[in-house]
Amino acid sequence: MIHAKRVLWTVLLAAAVFPVAARAQEGRGDVIYVPTPQVVVDEMLKMAKVGPSDYVIDLGSGDGRIVITAAKKFGARGFGVDLDTYLLKEARTSAKKEGVADRAQFFERNLFETDLSPATVITSYLLPEMNQKLRPKLLALKPGTRVVTHDYDLGEWLPDEQKTLIVPEKTVGDPGKSYIFFYIVPATIAGQWESLIPVGGRGVIYEFDFDQGFQQVSGDVRVDGKEARLPLFKVRGDQVSFEVDVAQGAGLVKHRFQGRIQRDAIEGTATIGSGQKPQKWTARLKKRGELRVSALDAAESVLR
Ligand SMILES: C[S@@+](CC[C@H](N)C(=O)[O-])C[C@H]1O[C@@H](n2cnc3c(N)ncnc32)[C@H](O)[C@@H]1O
Repeated sequence: MIHAKRVLWTVLLAAAVFPVAARAQEGRGDVIYVPTPQVVVDEMLKMAKVGPSDYVIDLGSGDGRIVITAAKKFGARGFGVDLDTYLLKEARTSAKKEGVADRAQFFERNLFETDLSPATVITSYLLPEMNQKLRPKLLALKPGTRVVTHDYDLGEWLPDEQKTLIVPEKTVGDPGKSYIFFYIVPATIAGQWESLIPVGGRGVIYEFDFDQGFQQVSGDVRVDGKEARLPLFKVRGDQVSFEVDVAQGAGLVKHRFQGRIQRDAIEGTATIGSGQKPQKWTARLKKRGELRVSALDAAESVLR
């Protein structure tokens, strides 16, 4: 299906041989201008839970509808970048007309050369190869930054959520349908971590070894010389939560960990044993690991 969509848009691209004067509204740069239907714009911003504290950057902003909607309906601020001066002018005029020109700005700038660091939310409607090229830049953003793409996903980086909308008026891509992909930039937990946890009146060392492909994590924990495999779990922004059964005495004891990943520490709670109270938990980084970001790497971290 993705292949069919891609062929369709590529055909459209190839057919986009317009006289110079008419090209202005067709977009410039690496992909022609196709607006996201308004109903899809609304849903993209809802999926990202955009609100007044958000800063939205739309990569290839066209007539500005995503940033303008984020400002007008969701109270956010932000900017769009595009290379098409006609569309940029149209976007600025609409922002003024909608009374949000102070919160929705538009710049003539190549999206690949744009500083994305102010963003809490990134939106895009670009071709798969552009998404692929952008991926390292997106993964380097502050953990928790949300990314919403229209119609094309981010390849091996699996979405945290996705939605298909029926949009009868849509004639490009997969006609009549829009796909929305939602991602949360994960913190890096990959590596070896150590905790000292009081259990039954003595301090027990827990050694964690996490293997991470995008937001998916696998690994194991070593406790008192015994190793337990961790079930596959996800990092959501800088938040982590996982459970593991650890052999203790003759039986298995359920452990539940949850916390916030910081640079060199994870701070949160550990609940050891069913029905027990959570206690403060800190894990310290012993050896940093690599976030796996290639197709093969990501699959390996899941299968390991
Ligand atoms: C498919 S349209 C999407 C417009 C808008 N984001 C929306 O969803 O309605 C893609 C836009 O990206 C712009 N564009 C293409 N390559 C670009 C680049 N390298 N830098 C900035 N803008 C670019 C085009 O001019 C076009 O307006």
